Amino acid sequence: MRGIVYTGDKAELTDELGLRDPGTTEVVVRTIAAGVCHSDLSVVDGTIPWPSPSVLGHEGAGVVEEVGSAVTMVKPGDHVVVSTLASCGMCRWCNTGRPAWCRRSMGNVSQPFTFRGDPAYNFAATSSFAERTVVQQVQAVPISKDVPLESACLIACGVLTGVGAVLNRARVDPGDTAAVFGVGGVGLNVIQGLRLASASRIVAVDSVASKESLARAFGATEFVDASRTDPVAAIRELLPTGGGEGGGMATSGVDWAFECVGSEKVLASALEVLDWGGTCVAVGVPAPTAEVPVRVTHLTHVDRGLIGCRYGSSRPRHDIPLLVGLYLDGRLMLDELVSRTEPLEGFDAVVADMHDGKLARGVLTF
Ligand SMILES: NC(=O)c1ccc[n+]([C@@H]2O[C@H](COP(=O)([O-])OP(=O)(O)OC[C@H]3O[C@@H](n4cnc5c(N)ncnc54)[C@H](O)[C@@H]3O)[C@@H](O)[C@H]2O)c1
Ligand SMILES: [Zn+2]
Ligand SMILES: [Zn+2]
Repeated sequence: MRGIVYTGDKAELTDELGLRDPGTTEVVVRTIAAGVCHSDLSVVDGTIPWPSPSVLGHEGAGVVEEVGSAVTMVKPGDHVVVSTLASCGMCRWCNTGRPAWCRRSMGNVSQPFTFRGDPAYNFAATSSFAERTVVQQVQAVPISKDVPLESACLIACGVLTGVGAVLNRARVDPGDTAAVFGVGGVGLNVIQGLRLASASRIVAVDSVASKESLARAFGATEFVDASRTDPVAAIRELLPTGGGEGGGMATSGVDWAFECVGSEKVLASALEVLDWGGTCVAVGVPAPTAEVPVRVTHLTHVDRGLIGCRYGSSRPRHDIPLLVGLYLDGRLMLDELVSRTEPLEGFDAVVADMHDGKLARGVLTF
């Protein structure tokens, strides 16, 4: 079987993969399309520590091929988006609508594959850069066959993460203002989540100037080129507020700042640009040792906050059908996220384009 394997120092295309049979509650999904998320690249460059050899990919969609004896939620032939949350369904968090907090949903490192005959790990419980993968039935969310799988696959990470950060984690109110740092696959979905939430101002920030047109197409009202301007000063200028009345400290900035790059330096800017009462949402994932300095009085004066967000705080079996419905109603942009489609052989070219900031998303097809 073919796939992209992380060997410990690089990612390589192989045709020497094997896959075990599904367990009673598992399903085998034949991958049709898989988006390349920056988190896959972060495994390869060591930012996200992961054992090797492992089969990469976690933004996939495909067709159910085989089901275990206890599987009731899907059947062979169903089109599915594969979520990374192999949540247990039993615990306190699963039962209060927070499967991303299920202790069983983090890591999930197992060795369902072989690579050249030796055991090989999965990645993010999914491994969608393989022709076939085995996942828990809770992860295989059926969708309408009207949605092209080349677009639907992006829901599995970038869309769930970005839109979910706005609607589930931040719960942005209509009229709120926001800045989005990083206009990649995740940031564009934060931008369209903000549009869905009726944010009044959506300032997109990227260090690649050509991202402006994409950002505006997804709903940004302004764009700041971080390679030429200090984004904090630029956003303050764009969003002055009348905080000086009554003798208070004059301030300016945004109600929400989303960091979608994975850089502690950018996170510091996102925190800095908050207006009174503003909240910064850390979405990007830097190295495990990364730290951000916080001036405590910046938080206390007045009511600012910093929160993290895993996987859009999503409830995949609720959110994926919701997002598919919004797409079919013409309210969620998916096709426009696909900048480049390549067979597995094109993986390196997609990665190079991603590093150069040329893509919304690159998609691998099988
Ligand atoms: N929290 C989660 O659950 C979750 C889920 C998916 C991805 N992520 C993380 O989100 C981050 C973004 O992922 P992605 O797939 O959108 O990446 P991407 O490569 O598609 O996009 C990153 C964007 O950031 C821009 N950028 C780089 N440096 C910048 C800077 N200094 N200032 C402004 N913009 C800058 C790039 O030009 C690019 O447009 C990664 O760290 C990824 O690991 C987190
Ligand atoms: Zn991802
Ligand atoms: Zn659970």
